[in-house]
Amino acid sequence: MANARRWVVIPAAGRGERFGASLPKQYAVVAGKTVLEHALACFNGLERLAGIVVAVASDDDRFARLWRPAAPVHTVVGGETRAASVAAALQWLHDGPAREDDWVLVHDAARPLLSRDDLNALVHESEQNGHGALLGVPVADTIKHADDGMVSETIPRDKLWRAMTPQMFRLGALRDALERAGPEVTDEAMAMEKAGMKPTIVRGSATNLKITTLNDLVMAEALFAMRAQTR
Ligand code: C5P
Repeated sequence: MANARRWVVIPAAGRGERFGASLPKQYAVVAGKTVLEHALACFNGLERLAGIVVAVASDDDRFARLWRPAAPVHTVVGGETRAASVAAALQWLHDGPAREDDWVLVHDAARPLLSRDDLNALVHESEQNGHGALLGVPVADTIKHADDGMVSETIPRDKLWRAMTPQMFRLGALRDALERAGPEVTDEAMAMEKAGMKPTIVRGSATNLKITTLNDLVMAEALFAMRAQTR
């Protein structure tokens, strides 16, 4: 089992309604490449990587023209929700080349800045505990619960984390959990939690940001520039 293969699944079928531009956020350009190309490049050189499955929208005509990483890339048509898009990719792996105990690393197409250190820490923890893990960062702000703009409560933050990706689990366990949890779960760990598991959260770096708005793109551009300077 220690040598189980690794697959990367990238849900990239979102239409990016919150992004406020004519094209989905994964196709926005930052530091000379699309966000999705950066996300793919994060896995370059990952050992035992057997392939990458990208879930794209049914009318996607951009992905075919993008830069391709060295690992084999397969595309599937995504679904109405992120979970449905991930499930479509897992189904393809299950029906095709993968085994139930292979590892799957699910990574948002909209996270172009995953660092090699964070990826290595996640893979190390998952393979040590044998079940899997996800990246996250502890919440730094004070968190309020509000109805119609009126604060009713302050939520103690000492045990709160922001979940990030990649999230790494065994193919069979993750497929079962997602199937049972349904299409509304917002990440893989949530499906695993609903199945009664307690996924380990590995402290990652806040710079692994998810592009949601045009402001995030400005932030990502600055982070890429800083990264280039420190090389
Ligand atoms: O919208 P959100 O930021 O949560 O999307 C996270 C990731 O899920 C993005 O990479 C997006 O393209 C993907 N997604 C998908 N299929 C959907 C909705 C989102 O693959 N129906």
